[in-house]
Amino acid sequence: MHSSLKFTFTFLAVALVAASCSSDDIVYKDASAPVEKRVEDLLKRMTLEEKLLQLNQYTLGMNNIENNLGEAVREIPAEIGSLIYFGDDAILRNKMQHRAMEESRLGIPILFGHDVIHGYRTIFPVPLAQACSWNPELVRQGCAVAAQESYSCGVDWTFSPMVDIARDPRWGRVMEGYGEDPYAASVYCQAAVRGYQGDDLGAENTIAACLKHYVGYGASEAGRDYVPAEISDQTLWDTYLPPFEAGVKAGAATLMSAFHNISGTPASGNHYILTEVLKDKWGHDGFVVSDWDAVVQLKNQGMAADDKEAAEIAFNAGIEMDMVDDLYKKYIPQLLEEGKVKMSQVDEAVRRVLRIKFRLGLFDKPYIEEKPESERYLLPESLDLAERLATESMVLLKNDDGLLPLDIRSRIALIGPLSSVRRDHNGNWYGRGKETDVIPFNEGIAEEFSGRLTVAEGCDFEGDDRSGFARAVAAARESDVAVVCIGHKSRWSGENCSRSTIEIPQIQLDLVRAIKATGTKVVLLVSCGRPVDLHLFEPEADAILLTWHPGTMAGRAVAGILSGRSNPSGKLAITFPYTTGQIPIYYNRRNSGRRGTQGIYKDITSNPMYQFGYGLSYSTFEYGPLTLSSENVSRNGSLQASVTVTNTSSRDGQETVHWFICDPVSRITRPVKELKYFEKQLIPAGESRTFTFDIEPMRDLGFVDRTGRRYLDSGEYHIIVGTQQATITVTD
Ligand code: GLC
Repeated sequence: MHSSLKFTFTFLAVALVAASCSSDDIVYKDASAPVEKRVEDLLKRMTLEEKLLQLNQYTLGMNNIENNLGEAVREIPAEIGSLIYFGDDAILRNKMQHRAMEESRLGIPILFGHDVIHGYRTIFPVPLAQACSWNPELVRQGCAVAAQESYSCGVDWTFSPMVDIARDPRWGRVMEGYGEDPYAASVYCQAAVRGYQGDDLGAENTIAACLKHYVGYGASEAGRDYVPAEISDQTLWDTYLPPFEAGVKAGAATLMSAFHNISGTPASGNHYILTEVLKDKWGHDGFVVSDWDAVVQLKNQGMAADDKEAAEIAFNAGIEMDMVDDLYKKYIPQLLEEGKVKMSQVDEAVRRVLRIKFRLGLFDKPYIEEKPESERYLLPESLDLAERLATESMVLLKNDDGLLPLDIRSRIALIGPLSSVRRDHNGNWYGRGKETDVIPFNEGIAEEFSGRLTVAEGCDFEGDDRSGFARAVAAARESDVAVVCIGHKSRWSGENCSRSTIEIPQIQLDLVRAIKATGTKVVLLVSCGRPVDLHLFEPEADAILLTWHPGTMAGRAVAGILSGRSNPSGKLAITFPYTTGQIPIYYNRRNSGRRGTQGIYKDITSNPMYQFGYGLSYSTFEYGPLTLSSENVSRNGSLQASVTVTNTSSRDGQETVHWFICDPVSRITRPVKELKYFEKQLIPAGESRTFTFDIEPMRDLGFVDRTGRRYLDSGEYHIIVGTQQATITVTD
């Protein structure tokens, strides 16, 4: 059709639609009307061009994410559906929103997104660290602060929580998730969604969540980012899908499709997961955004011959919004003409995007109040929370002879590449966090302790320059204790940060050994965004505290633990391998057919350095007998397992009790044990508290098959807590 004729038709169509609606029956502008009515009313008024722009996302502001730099900042149409927003306040966002509301024909607000992964400006520990707190309520509160700060700076939507199960710490993005266990990740996922979205998505200081990266991205082969993963349907259902299902049930507004190829079908072209599971089986009524360029990358993955086919495959698979590669806007009109995409599909995709915008209240409150900086972020209560979460995320791995906590008057030599840094404590994906906000270890410790503090870096993270060793050794000799701050740079984990080894560079080990040789007691502070190889460091240290990348309040949190102001309570949410050669190694593995020395390494131990769930406290806890309300339970019945834990120390402390189950015999064989519940309680010195696991057989003992169907076998099961195990029987 000749373009001028086409223009005439379009113009007439628009004019007819506009004329047919008097101002008082513009339902979509009526805040009192039900969302679904507003969606349908708006949808029927939209032209194809307007609809397709709602399915596209560009960027606004300076993109500082090195993996995506260089994206052309296009002339942004007022009708664009979404923008990834790189701004520290709402000013630029409001300017763009005014264009959308006033220059476009229908005044559809833009949805502004950003990667708020573990804080916006107040930076919390990386999510993998937060998972070691076993305090989902604290994680929820942290996400609520992140939502408040994001909202006040113009962000309506975060590309978080990332809930990829990861069992290969060579993969840099292990830092962004909640570890190796599907149940734990499900609990944290729900906490994060509630934190971001609150009880009312339309309320102030709430933002839309985005479960990512859907699904199985953490299984990328050999920990190499973006590469294909071999995942059976059985493993997809019993390991990788559960946190996403939990997030959908918690009401997560959106999901993000992943980059990788799932056993031959790329995630971003995978109709099974994007439509049959997410929409048909789980009933998700929000929308899916692709990851950055994930649509166009279907060509590189060999699924699409060209851009147009990539758009056809991704759209028909079930991705509603295309992140930054612009293919939907360019090619869906042709695909419609060729009958490869139906108008009803376009309408459904637009319906889902509009639905989230209406639920967020963007039509009725499109602009964000432009508050002063002091009211937007880094509020005192937010910083206090950040310190608490950092403290509870840290894991005490060793404490020989109760060296920690240290006497407040101790003369401390603070040594190592992380002794005074700021930036690395924010970890990767640090949102709009500023390193100048960070309290470094040296400042935190100086503030906490009254004894002499000598700081001697000793060496850099890597390299061969040992010229700083002598000063560090001298400082250690003249001190009561050497606190050596070792580990990885924050930029060594995160996206596109795969490492062939999880070792800490040799120069740091040499430094620790040189300090150890002085005879001064050695405390290691280990900073990292992934499990690291500590097996050579362990013998050199009297105490080891895993600090992860703890965020803005790093120095104060670590000082509080060193001084005993805080009692460490973290426990590992991911296995620490003895060395890279053991990877993958995780606790919930299936049994082998061989026992004893068959099937173990001949050159190193086959046990990890630190188990899932491991972590010490300054308190000591004694577990009483595991008791059951019954030894038998019917399929639809319930049963209580309880254990009483006594704090046998003189110091109040928090203890997390992990409840595992084991189904020793099943046609679809089950892991040696599976976490099914956990609870953390403060137990005052000398007192006892009872921890109870209310077992619902189908939920807690059952399993899903390769189609996602849940089963429950009758017969024996083991309930495991601490070192105890009890057997129950599920009767018909
Ligand atoms: C990145 C990441 C994804 C992020 C998105 C937007 O490449 O894979 O996690 O949300 O692009 O920055």
